[in-house]
Amino acid sequence: MKLHPDLEKILIDEASIQQRVKEIAAEITRDYAGRSVLMICTLRGAVMFFADLVKYIDLDVRMDFIACSSYGAGTSSSGEVKIVKDISQPIAGLDVIVVEDIIDTGHTLKYLYNMLLNRGPASLKICSLLDKPERREVELEGDYVGFKVPNEFVVGYGLDYNEKYRNLPMVGVLKPEVYAK
Ligand code: PRP
Repeated sequence: MKLHPDLEKILIDEASIQQRVKEIAAEITRDYAGRSVLMICTLRGAVMFFADLVKYIDLDVRMDFIACSSYGAGTSSSGEVKIVKDISQPIAGLDVIVVEDIIDTGHTLKYLYNMLLNRGPASLKICSLLDKPERREVELEGDYVGFKVPNEFVVGYGLDYNEKYRNLPMVGVLKPEVYAK
């Protein structure tokens, strides 16, 4: 596939993503054998990962969706998180996995995790396609992580810049001149 002109390079190609997604799905299938699991997709970045992941999980999977936004302008989150759309069911007593596209500062997931934990799930785990540990501002680890990525401006496979590039099947690094404009 041709490199998108706004990308400096491909960081993780489509085949590597798909392979890793299958591995994570197999791990989840093993860990939750005999149980049903509620998978919560965080809109919008996790949509691509979520859709692929659930297809490969061989369990009784239910799905729900949540959307949060971090206050503050720019490309990094400020630490304040707002729920824009909540999930549509109680989760008390359920085995829940929250699916994210990226853990960056960690503020979004920390907030979400604590909020969901307060609702009394039987278990609560975090699954993120990407992890950028260099950027972490709060202590938080993903239980299932696809790839650790360096502190570069990554887009594609759900991740955007100004709402663009979410539909690319790979994860790439954006050219600095694109976001410096
Ligand atoms: C991104 C991403 C995570 C969050 C990670 O969401 O999807 O939710 O930022 O950053 P943090 O670890 O620093 O909190 P964004 O607010 O860009 O929304 P989107 O998913 O709709 O792209």
